[in-house]
Amino acid sequence: MNHLLKMLDLSREEITDLLNLADQLKYEQKHGISHKVLEGKSLGMIFAKASTRTRVSFEVGMYQLGGQPIYLSANDMQIGRGEPVQDTARVLSRYLDGIMIRTFAQSQVEDLAKYGSIPIINALTDFAHPCQVLADLMTIREFKGSLEGLNVCYIGDGNNMANSIIAGCLKMDMNVHIACPDNYRPDKEVLEFAQQYSNFKMTSVPAEAAVDADVIFTDVWSSMGMESEIEQRKIAFQGYQVNDAIMALAHPDCMIQHCLPAHREEEITEKVFEAHANEIFEEAENRLHAQKAVMVALMKD
Ligand code: CP
Ligand code: NVA
Repeated sequence: MNHLLKMLDLSREEITDLLNLADQLKYEQKHGISHKVLEGKSLGMIFAKASTRTRVSFEVGMYQLGGQPIYLSANDMQIGRGEPVQDTARVLSRYLDGIMIRTFAQSQVEDLAKYGSIPIINALTDFAHPCQVLADLMTIREFKGSLEGLNVCYIGDGNNMANSIIAGCLKMDMNVHIACPDNYRPDKEVLEFAQQYSNFKMTSVPAEAAVDADVIFTDVWSSMGMESEIEQRKIAFQGYQVNDAIMALAHPDCMIQHCLPAHREEEITEKVFEAHANEIFEEAENRLHAQKAVMVALMKD
């Protein structure tokens, strides 16, 4: 593994190794065992979109690993004024040991990897959110003991989270049931990948996808960059809410995963959200541990 660009790129073995390393780093951190294995290394963190969890967990994670995180707002960089990605990649490769980027187009992340000579980590694009899904898989394994054979349901927009959940969960031999409105389906490339799996099902009816679920995922109806579509999407996603009626169809011990930020009473009710806050905030914490595993795997000598 040279980069983390999208879940589609990872093998089952690579995902398992990252989750095992994340568990180990979490254990060490909880027990005060220092692991400064990235001493002397610098991570550039390019943000073209807002962030709470990603920024703080990468900065703290890099500090705990003994390295230096450098926050770079895309608007303050020359890339925000049109300097080509090819040139940015070649310049930053001469100063840094790794780059984390949150941006719009997946192609920008892929180009950084193509033209640079250091590891690139996708910290969210319109297409993918692999760091989040690694943390989600870590959390599910922590609560359920193993991943294989679990019924995963995703209700909502066929967005970066849906794309990454489908790829990551199918690779881990989980059964994946997706409910999206017809006009808001996941990416074509991801659906083509998923069609090879008999344990993948897509519907436009949330109640069908939720039956016997062990884990239900949801996400916002309007992602970052879709601000002009908010009102139209609120209408399109009526009926795609995770609520008591949906939970009644799932297994009694069904978990909820939400990458956050959440919009209460839109994609999830306040009641369901608060009843599952324990799992949701463990998921948020696990961003730290999962990303430390990614940085160690990619950047350690
Ligand atoms: N889940 C997630 O990526 O959160 P932020 O947007 O706050 O980084
Ligand atoms: N789908 C959301 C995820 C935020 C972490 C977005 O892209 O805004």
